[in-house]
Amino acid sequence: MAHILSKRIFRNKKDVFNLKNVFQKVKFLMTDFYPPSEFDEWAHDYDQSVADNTGFPFDGYAEVLQSIVDLCSPRPNASVLDLGIGTGNLALRFAQRGCRIWGLDFSAEMLRLARVKLPDVALAQADLRAEWPPDFHHRFNNIVSAYTFHHFTLDEKVYQIQRLLRNNLTSDGKLVIGDIAFSSESEQDQLRQTLGSEWDQEFYWLADETTQALALVGIQANFYRVTNCAGIFDFHLKG
Ligand SMILES: C[S@@+](CC[C@H](N)C(=O)[O-])C[C@H]1O[C@@H](n2cnc3c(N)ncnc32)[C@H](O)[C@@H]1O
Repeated sequence: MAHILSKRIFRNKKDVFNLKNVFQKVKFLMTDFYPPSEFDEWAHDYDQSVADNTGFPFDGYAEVLQSIVDLCSPRPNASVLDLGIGTGNLALRFAQRGCRIWGLDFSAEMLRLARVKLPDVALAQADLRAEWPPDFHHRFNNIVSAYTFHHFTLDEKVYQIQRLLRNNLTSDGKLVIGDIAFSSESEQDQLRQTLGSEWDQEFYWLADETTQALALVGIQANFYRVTNCAGIFDFHLKG
């Protein structure tokens, strides 16, 4: 009987695979899956893990960082806020262009390593979703982030982007985020099925649903695909 039932429910291996993914998503939603301690542990290997740049999830890492800088096209002395600065790889590219850098991260160890690359910049330890330190309560010419927002649900992303555009960006400023991203859920599914057990579910950006959700709150999002698992977005208040 159980055999017949399972045959009816799971017509093929794909159904079983999809169910496994649903359980993975539920587990992920019910826990703070990646607390600061996880990043503290990862910090000393982090630059090594992104250095080789091939394969999911960091395929095209350097290209993504450079695309963010190019899209911002910052002038020397521009102020740049890097959200989830990590070991400082993105901020360093802006510093090399003569920009003034502010960086937030909730991992003390990531910040310690960022400080080595960027000795003279403003760094602070904070959860991006919580209250920021007073030094960060002003408007920036550029707000950027790389490989961080995929830890946030779609609702959190929308809320944060609204807050950043309304409260933290200068009127002619640019908000550019690069991350693990797909044009649509079906594009994400294709890679998930190709990778099988190597797939690791997080809140990767789906450009179509993100664009629609932001349009509802008066924000225009543009998506630029960089690799088959990464892309960058810029965001503007409409009207
Ligand atoms: C994958 S690393 C990316 C680091 C860097 N932006 C880069 O591109 O190399 C993600 C970073 O985001 C930070 N992070 C994740 N969630 C955060 C949160 N809620 N508040 C602050 N930092 C967060 C982690 O500590 C980590 O440094």
